[in-house]
Amino acid sequence: MWNERYKGDEFAYGIEPNDFLKSKYAYIPKGGKVLCLAEGEGRNAVFLAKQGYEVTAVDLSHVGLQKAEKFALKNGVTIKTVVANLADFDLGKESWDAIVSIAAHVPPPIRKKLHSQVFDALKENGVFILEAFHERQLKMSGIGGPPSKEMLMSLDELEVELHGLEFKIAAEVDRHISEGVHHQGESAVVQIVAMKKVTI
Ligand SMILES: C[S@@+](CC[C@H](N)C(=O)[O-])C[C@H]1O[C@@H](n2cnc3c(N)ncnc32)[C@H](O)[C@@H]1O
Repeated sequence: MWNERYKGDEFAYGIEPNDFLKSKYAYIPKGGKVLCLAEGEGRNAVFLAKQGYEVTAVDLSHVGLQKAEKFALKNGVTIKTVVANLADFDLGKESWDAIVSIAAHVPPPIRKKLHSQVFDALKENGVFILEAFHERQLKMSGIGGPPSKEMLMSLDELEVELHGLEFKIAAEVDRHISEGVHHQGESAVVQIVAMKKVTI
């Protein structure tokens, strides 16, 4: 499905970064290493690379990531891409200054396994930034997000899954989204900025 969605010249979610990421990326230590999960065509990865970060983008879709690489070159930056299924992707240990998750909707068992790795995968003072469609999205007029409740997210669940991180922002928000043709209109989202603080 994703390769099919990305095969045209248009960018399915536009070429601008996600609004929440754009407003919060300054939490990420300057020049740091950033992993963008389920990054698709690279709009967020390229934005972060343009801000001076060293960005790796992972996604299931090789078509999306090829487009992301070309988009990076067009913008005068480079990003590293990894074609992988998040179901068995190893985030590593103390590897990232930030992990970014924008509309990265996967089945709950995969999401829980992924999120259970986030604390260890971040360096000290590393940051996790997430925006995803909330379960209430099913009742909203906006377009975007998977059509089943189980693939959507809620703050209660995420706070449990991301246990150990210090939450700076943890909110369920209704907002107008305009990202390409596939994310449009009044939408319900969950937003998180959380940090890895190590206490000795
Ligand atoms: C709604 S798009 C969001 C893309 C990007 N984060 C953005 O904001 O533009 C969801 C992405 O999740 C990816 N994806 C879905 N399931 C995945 C999985 N199991 N492993 C890796 N990527 C996956 C898809 O290929 C797609 O690019």
